Amino acid sequence: MPARRVVCPGSFDPVTNGHLDIITRAALIHDEVIVAVFPNLSKHALFTLDERVGLLREVTGKIANVRVQKFDGLIVDFCRSHDVSAIVKGLRAVSDFDYEMQMAQMNYNQAGVETLFMTTNPLYAFLSSSLVKEFAKYHGDVSGLVPVPVLDALAKRMAQG
Ligand code: PNS
Repeated sequence: MPARRVVCPGSFDPVTNGHLDIITRAALIHDEVIVAVFPNLSKHALFTLDERVGLLREVTGKIANVRVQKFDGLIVDFCRSHDVSAIVKGLRAVSDFDYEMQMAQMNYNQAGVETLFMTTNPLYAFLSSSLVKEFAKYHGDVSGLVPVPVLDALAKRMAQG
């Protein structure tokens, strides 16, 4: 039987506990999970692509069947070149659904790539990287919402101004 290798794509600027929850659960039910870090052209990035990859490697390091890499291109091309059978996405709320559905159907239409949706842990249903960045910028408390290495990286970045 071929390995069930899936991809968890995102911009992860930065990775949150909500992302980590989805990655961990995806790894429990698949042979291998590749976390693919994409530049997001429409959002202002706080961390470089390499910094985001580094943080993800640090926080997923103990999960044996997870690897992290960056990619600049279409997710369907990543899937083709890495022999990935499906994209795994977390769905937080109904508000996520329309856009996620559109992307999933586009990716299936273009390359026959399936998308599997996992429901977000309700503990993190409200959580997004954008809100983490906004709260961190104005010295809000985001501990408990991001892994400790991300908390440290946020503190350092904010101190740099
Ligand atoms: O964490 P984000 O910003 O919600 O992730 C969005 C991401 C990176 C998953 C999405 O923009 C994506 O798949 N980008 C790769 C480029 C691509 O294939 N775009 C067309 C999607 S149908």
